[in-house]
Amino acid sequence: MTMKRLGLGVLGLGEGRSIISAGLHSDRWQVAALCDLNAELGRERCAEFGLDPTVFTTSLDALLANAAVDVVGIYTPDHLHADHILRCLRAGKHVVCTKPFLHDLSRAREVLDTARATGKRVMVGQSSRFFAPFKRQREHFATGFLGELNTVEAYYNADHRWFLAKPWARTDAFKWLYGGLSHPVDFIRWYLPDIEEVMGYSRLSENGQAGGLAHDDTFHFIYKAKSGRIARVSGTYSAPVTPTARDSNMSCVLRGSLGASQGDYYDLRYAWKTDAQSAVETFEDEDAFFFRFGGHSHHAGEYQRYIEYFADCLAQGTVPTPDPAEGIVTVALMQAMEEACTTGGPVKVRAVLARYGLEDLVQASS
Ligand SMILES: NC(=O)c1ccc[n+]([C@@H]2O[C@H](COP(=O)([O-])OP(=O)(O)OC[C@H]3O[C@@H](n4cnc5c(N)ncnc54)[C@H](O)[C@@H]3O)[C@@H](O)[C@H]2O)c1
Repeated sequence: MTMKRLGLGVLGLGEGRSIISAGLHSDRWQVAALCDLNAELGRERCAEFGLDPTVFTTSLDALLANAAVDVVGIYTPDHLHADHILRCLRAGKHVVCTKPFLHDLSRAREVLDTARATGKRVMVGQSSRFFAPFKRQREHFATGFLGELNTVEAYYNADHRWFLAKPWARTDAFKWLYGGLSHPVDFIRWYLPDIEEVMGYSRLSENGQAGGLAHDDTFHFIYKAKSGRIARVSGTYSAPVTPTARDSNMSCVLRGSLGASQGDYYDLRYAWKTDAQSAVETFEDEDAFFFRFGGHSHHAGEYQRYIEYFADCLAQGTVPTPDPAEGIVTVALMQAMEEACTTGGPVKVRAVLARYGLEDLVQASS
């Protein structure tokens, strides 16, 4: 018996381009509707993907009224995610929302309660979890090959000066702490879900200032988990980064009692070492699958993997992760990081959650 395809609605057609491509390459999805305030971009996307122009609308209400849409993929600017998630849920749609899930916690309780009340599935689109080297690292770690995890180090450095051309990037609403660091911070919480405290520093670089950024673009943080394990995250966004041969923009290092491993964004590398063995694995043969639009600027392959996973979860009745609770604690951690930079002292995630009536998201004993 063939399953009915899931109807995909895409909101925000910049990065949304990747999920359109993912939907069109899947036999489990049907791209049913596209929405953006920018009608010219809507026409461009329909032409690019050979879609009937009538699938495009500038009205979110029209997209939500469309019975052919089962799931909405949200790719609007960060500060609009909360409102858009809530509107989709209230219209009875499942949601995949890109990172950062939310850009602060002001509506987190409402998002969590609405997701629970409607029973609709919400998944945070943490794309990097679905990138081949990081997925391999996770699976390798799960076999116990690296032993007991001792510490995690992650970073995301990128020359994102081009991003400043987007109007919202130069407003008070845009913060690299959420927009960029949500990738390595998610790695940290993937391996150490019980991070309880953070310290760190940030600054706005000269290039960021000249480019019109309102908030900092240079970060170093250290974390402590309830288990006593420690971790660190760094990021910079407004200047050249070191050559790919030497470094990979985004990386996640696990150090365990039996071995260490490193997942690297470029060139789709995964390297590991134990006392007895070591190897460098590459997934370069998947380059064309992951990066479909030339260069390395879009994430279509990751989105392909996560919509297939989301479809599996819907079919099996399982909860896709990161779910809203996990996503909200990661946002709380990013808010704690922001506060640590402002106060110059350590900040507890639990204290941040408590201020928003969200303390039920961490275990009572922490
Ligand atoms: N790896 C990843 O997962 C990844 C990568 C890049 C961007 N993103 C995320 O995707 C989101 C969008 O980023 P982007 O780079 O595409 O930005 P963008 O500015 O290029 O695109 C956002 C689009 O949303 C549209 N829009 C704004 N408000 C709207 C509204 N109320 N209704 C309908 N459309 C609206 C804009 O017209 C624009 O076309 C951000 O949250 C960003 O963090 C995720």
